[in-house]
Amino acid sequence: MSNTINRINELKKEKNAVILAHYYCPEDTQGIADHIGDSFYLAKIAKETDADIIVFAGVRFMGESAKILNPDKKVLMPDMSADCPMAHMASVERIAEVRNEHPGIAVVCYINSTAELKCASDVCVTSSNAKKIVKALPNNDIYFIPDQNLGRHVAMAIPEKRFIFNEGHCPIHHGFTEDELIRLKRLHPNAKVLAHPESRDCILKHSDYIGSTAGIIDYVSGSDVNEFIIFTEEGINYALKKAAPDKHFYYPSVGCACADMKLNTPEAILNVLESEQNEVLLDSKTMKNALEPLEKMLELGK
Ligand code: 13P
Ligand code: SF4
Repeated sequence: MSNTINRINELKKEKNAVILAHYYCPEDTQGIADHIGDSFYLAKIAKETDADIIVFAGVRFMGESAKILNPDKKVLMPDMSADCPMAHMASVERIAEVRNEHPGIAVVCYINSTAELKCASDVCVTSSNAKKIVKALPNNDIYFIPDQNLGRHVAMAIPEKRFIFNEGHCPIHHGFTEDELIRLKRLHPNAKVLAHPESRDCILKHSDYIGSTAGIIDYVSGSDVNEFIIFTEEGINYALKKAAPDKHFYYPSVGCACADMKLNTPEAILNVLESEQNEVLLDSKTMKNALEPLEKMLELGK
């Protein structure tokens, strides 16, 4: 492993490359990344970096967003097949129908979506800024794609607006069950429950805190409590342990690993740094049309 890490560091210097990694990546990948974060933080870093090459250890929509925000930079994905299933769970045809049926509606697109869906949307959001951005929009009617759970969570906080939801979901978070939550609470009665808003309402209604991966880590850092039940992908444990080494974290017993995120191994990073293969490339029309909702998010999410 140390040979791999040494070579990655040499190539990073030689090629002026930066490694961005999401909190769900394997631990050894988070260990070698220059920046680790949630989707919003990584999009901001991708926009601000002066590196020539961005290696994005995440899933496809993250690499695409980095490329759209940085047309002149080379964005490499350690594994091109790392994709988020939810990113495909909406359709441009349905967006067109909804726009027709509800003139004046705003199409709000969770960043976990394909570039094609972003092109058909008015603004992007992440789990850390969705409420703020939807509140700031002048539109009263909102079509929220693709995640029904985040959409419903945002809608509860903004009762003055009317929402249309889409049936997309994250296979990991949508699979968490209330029975498992109750079992964990019985085992750890003093623990706080922290959940990502991609989880269903049967989880969120029991949660002491609901937020993005970065929000969950901040909550733990600022809390006097020592035990936490965590309803999100298990890769977050690395950052939680770093932030609070003496605290205890409990996870659902099954199904909290995102197989796509785990494809981002140090070996895969070394491969793309060496070969410069797996470049994210999008046609110029997609780049232009998807940039608008992403830039609007960065502006409104400040
Ligand atoms: P965050 O923006 O909270 O990091 O979430 C990204 C994601 O894919 C959650 O499943
Ligand atoms: Fe997509 Fe879920 Fe994996 Fe996040 S955890 S990247 S939403 S499949």
